Amino acid sequence: MKLKIAVLPGDGVGPEVTHEAVRVLRTVSEVNGYDFQFREYPVGGAAVVADGHPLPQSTLEGCLASDAVLLGAVGGPQFDQLPVVLRPEAGLLKLRKALGAFANLRPAIVYDAVAHCSPLRPEVLRGTNILFVRELLGGLYFGEPRGRDENGGAYDTMRYSPAEIERVAKIAFEQARHRRKQVTSVDKANVLECSRLWRQTVSEVARDYPDVKLEHTYVDSFAMQMIATPSRYDVVVTENLFGDVLSDESAVLSGSLGMLGSASIGGAVGLYEPVHGSAPDIAGQNMANPVGAIASAAMLLRFTAGLHRDADDVQTAIARVLQKGIVTADLRPQQKAASTSEAGKEIERTLADLLGQRQAYHAV
Ligand code: IPM
Ligand code: MN
Repeated sequence: MKLKIAVLPGDGVGPEVTHEAVRVLRTVSEVNGYDFQFREYPVGGAAVVADGHPLPQSTLEGCLASDAVLLGAVGGPQFDQLPVVLRPEAGLLKLRKALGAFANLRPAIVYDAVAHCSPLRPEVLRGTNILFVRELLGGLYFGEPRGRDENGGAYDTMRYSPAEIERVAKIAFEQARHRRKQVTSVDKANVLECSRLWRQTVSEVARDYPDVKLEHTYVDSFAMQMIATPSRYDVVVTENLFGDVLSDESAVLSGSLGMLGSASIGGAVGLYEPVHGSAPDIAGQNMANPVGAIASAAMLLRFTAGLHRDADDVQTAIARVLQKGIVTADLRPQQKAASTSEAGKEIERTLADLLGQRQAYHAV
């Protein structure tokens, strides 16, 4: 198994957590005798500083020539005054678009060992495992026209084509087939025309998946229900901005935003990044949670390489290390908090054991 991985550490805590994700991928490669090759490229504010653009041409070309992209985080207060096209976020949006990554998968998993870290009661959280499928290339993020008008007002455009909705809905139904066979589609069809098209198109796609149960719900109601009864949801599919908001909200279920990983798929090259941002307040202090980045690496193994057992082993290693109480400060541990690298190394060690056991089993 040969894999070319473009590594884009980015800004703030991005480089620290990406380092741990690469550590884990290297171990998967070495123990199994695969050939994973890593190449680093600048992105975001770091790239603005180095090359004058948040997505330099050489970075984009490097990504397009790879099998997968592993990204840390972009942004920071020092870049907030830059013109819109030079902002770090613009680089990330351009990259998503150029890769054609239209489906953003963001699992919100409650690990028993850290369920007490959420402000929600453990009995509410028990069994929660939601897969958010966020449409990533349409809606208000990319709709035209956008801008300022002559009266000093501002406008953005929400626009969706049936094809854009259909392709992301299919991914949601495919994922549900491998899970608990339930899709919740989130919209605002009582107000928005785009949402009415969304609802109609998702219902049409559902006809090809009679084994999967579909429900439609309004985004305001869903925002409440996912906190009140999170365990009743399986796959949740929604448009770009709703998905952005709801996936951050889902971090409350997992105990910390640092826990969430993501995969952006559907295009030629998959993009894998933690859901959290660059967290400038804790950058450079070796205290960020590497779990989101490592979970993203597991998704890279699963979706780009089809290495499901290795991906499962990475997930198991994460769960075991959390079980041991080795967690970073964001999870407010009772004992001393682990640093980013301590948590990463522990996950790597646990993973190496798991992979080694599997090899020993196959050798006899
Ligand atoms: C995310 C982020 C991005 C988004 C920003 C950084 C452009 O918040 O990945 O959720 O809004 O999609
Ligand atoms: Mn976001």
